[in-house]
Amino acid sequence: MDNRRDFLKKSALVSAGLAVPALSSCACLDTIRAKVPMKTRQVNSALVVWYSQTGNTRRYGRLMAKTMQKQGVKVTACDLREADLGKIGEYDLLVVGSPVFYYDAPEYVQQWVGSLPVLAGMPVAAYVSFGGPEGNQYNAACSILERLVQKQGVPVAQKAFMNLGSYPLSWAGDKINKTPWKHHSLPDRQTYGQVREYARYVLQQVAKGQPAEFSKKLTLREISTYFGPIWWTKRSIEKHYLMEDQCIACGTCEEKCPSGAIDLADYSVNREACVLCFGCLNNCPAQAVYMQYDGTRLIGFQEFLKAKKIKILEPAELKS
Ligand SMILES: Cc1cc2nc3c(=O)[nH]c(=O)nc-3n(C[C@H](O)[C@H](O)[C@H](O)COP(=O)(O)O)c2cc1C
Repeated sequence: MDNRRDFLKKSALVSAGLAVPALSSCACLDTIRAKVPMKTRQVNSALVVWYSQTGNTRRYGRLMAKTMQKQGVKVTACDLREADLGKIGEYDLLVVGSPVFYYDAPEYVQQWVGSLPVLAGMPVAAYVSFGGPEGNQYNAACSILERLVQKQGVPVAQKAFMNLGSYPLSWAGDKINKTPWKHHSLPDRQTYGQVREYARYVLQQVAKGQPAEFSKKLTLREISTYFGPIWWTKRSIEKHYLMEDQCIACGTCEEKCPSGAIDLADYSVNREACVLCFGCLNNCPAQAVYMQYDGTRLIGFQEFLKAKKIKILEPAELKS
């Protein structure tokens, strides 16, 4: 008999399948192209920002920054929450990095881009890090560029980098022992080579003054993003709370939560506000976040790495 997750998955796919003809007939997947001329062909200074829950996207962003610095560019690289929005107009290039969550760029990233001032022809690029081979990554990166174009950014490139998945349901219950790790990709030298190459490519495209155009692809996974995947998945999480006696009050869960759903003052989790990013569970150093799925307790990314004795290779530039 199907378990609940399979049932939800199948229902979502069937609904999505039924919606394909309807959606294909409406011209909703517009081409993403510049609306204004590129303001410069010379990148003296760049801003590389990322949203990163478990460090993968951050690692790539930092490596891109180092690569651009080697090309003589002055780079500010930081979490997007730390970027000084008032100074964005001073940069010659903006690169935005994000994980793929639920087949798309997280709402939080999209809102951040929406909060930017007008970019007035600034070259922009996007990259995503993702955890599985079929995760709608291209479209997720397009979502970011789409918003940047609305802010008068001029798109030059986008790229997706495969990574170790950080989605706790993929190692839930006894799957942790059964999961064949060969199917999961750890970043290696080749991956980091691709990141460096992408950083150089972005600079080259700006130097050529060549804007790029992208169109989202109409895929089943793209369509499933219209059917509230977070809402559906949340229904399968039976328990989600903080264990007061185990908590060391370090504040990591509050800091990682993009929706303000956690309040350490009373150890509460607002499950309505929660966007099910697993940032709390994946990062708690004291295993004080309790989440239950299909009758078993979920473990977070850090514990998962320990259980599987997985060590993530750091690129040489970031070791010092
Ligand atoms: C809530 C959640 C949803 C995810 N959804 C997807 C997905 O739809 N497609 C995919 O390829 N990877 C998915 N992943 C895997 C992440 O995109 C991947 O692990 C990414 O590298 C995490 O980046 P970070 O370490 O910077 O947070 C998901 C991970 C989480 C935690």
